[in-house]
Amino acid sequence: MRLTLRIWRQRGPEEPGALSVYEIEDISPEMSFLEMLDTLNERLILRGEEPVAFDHDCREGICGACGMVINGQAHGPERTTTCQLHMRHFRDGDTIDVEPWRAAAFPVVKDLVVDRSAFDRIIGSGGFVSAPTGSAPEAHATPVPKPVADTAFEHAECIGCGACVAACPNGSAMLFTSAKVTHLNVLPQGQPERESRVLDMVGTMDAEGFGGCTNTGECAVACPKGIPLQSISTMNREFLRASLKNGGRGAR
Ligand code: FES
Repeated sequence: MRLTLRIWRQRGPEEPGALSVYEIEDISPEMSFLEMLDTLNERLILRGEEPVAFDHDCREGICGACGMVINGQAHGPERTTTCQLHMRHFRDGDTIDVEPWRAAAFPVVKDLVVDRSAFDRIIGSGGFVSAPTGSAPEAHATPVPKPVADTAFEHAECIGCGACVAACPNGSAMLFTSAKVTHLNVLPQGQPERESRVLDMVGTMDAEGFGGCTNTGECAVACPKGIPLQSISTMNREFLRASLKNGGRGAR
């Protein structure tokens, strides 16, 4: 395949950025999108040019490290992570625009790399359970009904890639936060912090500068793990319940 790539290049957080154009050929349709970028970088290095900076780790769709806006869509034309997107979804001769996540709470570090530590701070404010440490507890010591286990697992699938924020016109992190809140709030082990969890995580989310939800639903469409939009209403109910029980604390 022969492609024209228009890639966002930005030397640092305070530097101005712009799209740079690269012509690349001999790209196999079997390559992943990141392998295609690896190939570009090898050729740039051989030409003595600066390679394109981008995030990645597992390259198996499980860590959430990768992420870029491809032709205006978070993670590109398929509902998957960027590392699991393959070049067969593009055509020979295509022009492909590649940009970093665009959100006020995700400042650009360099090129396609953004700072997503705001997600870590949301998790740090409530994404845990008060479980005694030590040897693994007996599996049946705390019965978890099957529907509850299924709901918790469905939400635990969130890999924190940030596609929901990038896809949202408001730069909202409601889908991410609601996945983390719901995952733990439905489980018996998550009950001790049930109220403080949702109040603290929503409070941190707001303080980090993420936008509000206006129900456009783009987040759930872009999510590579299929976190359902309904999890936002679950979080809103949890938040209202916790606020009422705590004398209006966290009221928005
Ligand atoms: S590199 Fe881990 S999900 Fe893409």
